[in-house]
Parts: sequence; C-alpha cells; structure tokens
Amino acid sequence: MNIIETIRKRRSVRTYTGEPLRDEHIAQIKQFIGQMKPPFNKKARVELICMDTAGEPIKLGTYGWVKGARDFLALIYEDAPFADTAAAYMFEEVLLFCTSLDLGTCWLGGSFSRSDFKKQIILGPDEKLRIVSPVGYPSDRQHFIEKYIVRADKNHVSRKAFGELFFVGNFETPLTESAAEPFFTPLEMVRLAPSANNKQEWRVLRQNKTLHFYKNPYPMFDTIDMGIALCHFELTCKELGIEGHFEELKDYPANDSLKYVISWIESL
Ligand SMILES: Cc1cc2nc3c(=O)[nH]c(=O)nc-3n(C[C@H](O)[C@H](O)[C@H](O)COP(=O)(O)O)c2cc1C
Repeated sequence: MNIIETIRKRRSVRTYTGEPLRDEHIAQIKQFIGQMKPPFNKKARVELICMDTAGEPIKLGTYGWVKGARDFLALIYEDAPFADTAAAYMFEEVLLFCTSLDLGTCWLGGSFSRSDFKKQIILGPDEKLRIVSPVGYPSDRQHFIEKYIVRADKNHVSRKAFGELFFVGNFETPLTESAAEPFFTPLEMVRLAPSANNKQEWRVLRQNKTLHFYKNPYPMFDTIDMGIALCHFELTCKELGIEGHFEELKDYPANDSLKYVISWIESL
C-alpha cells in the first residue's frame, strides 16, 4: 500500500451499506492481521469479528454511533508500560491497510459495548480490550453525528495548523514547512492522524536530525493517540527512504505542560 496516499484518503466512516464483508476482503484482512507484530517489543493482536459468519446471531452494540456495520476489528493487548501506544501503532497499520482496500473504518474507544464484544473474544489473564473499529463498505448517507463535526472539506475533519503542532529548537518557534524538510511530509502525516475527539494533542520539537515527541496529557486516550501519530510518522519516513529509529532519551528539552514520550533519530 502507498502510505501517504492512504493516510490522505482515510477518514472515520460511521455509516455502512449493511453488506457483510466479501470473502476476498475477509481473507485479505485475516492474512494481514495474521502477520502483524506490534512495535517496541509489546504484545498485541487484532481480531476480526464477523456478525454473519459467527454461527448464531450476535449483537455488537455501538450506541447508535455506527450504522450498518456487520464486521468489526478488535484490538487486544497485554497491559504494560507503553503497551497502549505500541498496540495503537499496530491497529492503525491495520486500519490503513483496510483503507487501501477502499473499506471504511472508525476508531471507537468509547462508543461500543465492551460486554457485547467481550462475549466474542477470549481474553488472556493480562489482556484488555480498549478499542474496536467497524470495517465495511461506506454508505453515501451521512450519519447524523457527522453533521456536527467541523470539516475542512466534504470528506475531512479539520486539523490544527502545522505551526501549532510542530516546533524547532524551542517551543516558542513554530516549525515552518520549509524548515521541516526532509520531515515535512512525515509530520504532515502526523497532523492528519485521527485522535480521540480530534484533540490532536501530540507536539513535536525538532533539533537538527532528532525529533522529540511530546503529548499534552488527557484522560483515556492520549497514549493511544500517540501510537497512531508514531505509526504515521515512521511509516511515512520508511516510504520516503528516510532512515532512523525511535529511542526514549534520558536527556531531552523539558516542557512544563507537555510530557515527553520518545524521540526519532535520523541515521547519519
Ligand atoms: C483513540 C480514539 C478513540 C475514538 N473513539 C471514538 C468513539 O468512541 N466514537 C466515535 O464516533 N469516534 C471515535 N473516534 C474517532 C475520532 O472522533 C476521529 O478520528 C476524529 O474526529 C478525526 O476525524 P477523522 O478520523 O475523520 O479524521 C476515536 C478516535 C481515536 C483515535
């Protein structure tokens, strides 16, 4: 899949045609999730739950937030430091793969019935289920919830400006598009990342060949949102042939209101 094109195409889809996933799509998704490994040496897995092939009728409630979906992906992972972030990175890779197949998806952290979904999954003693996503064929009809969402255009939800999210040298100096090179496109893909309630609370500080990632902490989903941002950043670097790696540094520029998470260091 072409990552940059796919990230640009992705949006949350909450209304589906009601058609169950076709066999070829089920096979492609199962093959993709079967070979996935979460980053940062954490343990996580993704399961596909199909309402129509479960053997008996099953209920997967989304409190009216999702219409017409017959199939869902569930993210399951073992609780550990940084596990949320690693698992979210992996789940976003799966959702981008589905987007590349022209399927709709939508991260759901709040609006789904955990008890309905837990009936369909066997959780290990240390495993938890925090996120699911519908996966299916987008309908042309608009969900009533979507009418209240602020959009930049017909398809895309608005995002903060580049200079509000990314900085150079210190947190008073916004990073301009030209000063961001060669990281402009990887950071632009972070800017387009989905986040819970579209909060976009990731911030990045550039110091030469090192990019420090910070988050503005908020309850529930800040660690998950960071995993999605790291996924978009690293997969875009890989696609553009920019080599480097993530590392948690002991020495990084401190900030009173932001929490340091990790740095990405470009290979020399
Ligand atoms: C961790 C996380 C949890 C989310 N939970 C929900 C949810 O419970 N219900 C929902 O309708 N959308 C949920 N979303 C979708 C966001 O509202 C959406 O990604 C954001 O508004 C940006 O819109 P876009 O995905 O169309 O770009 C969630 C997104 C993330 C990343």
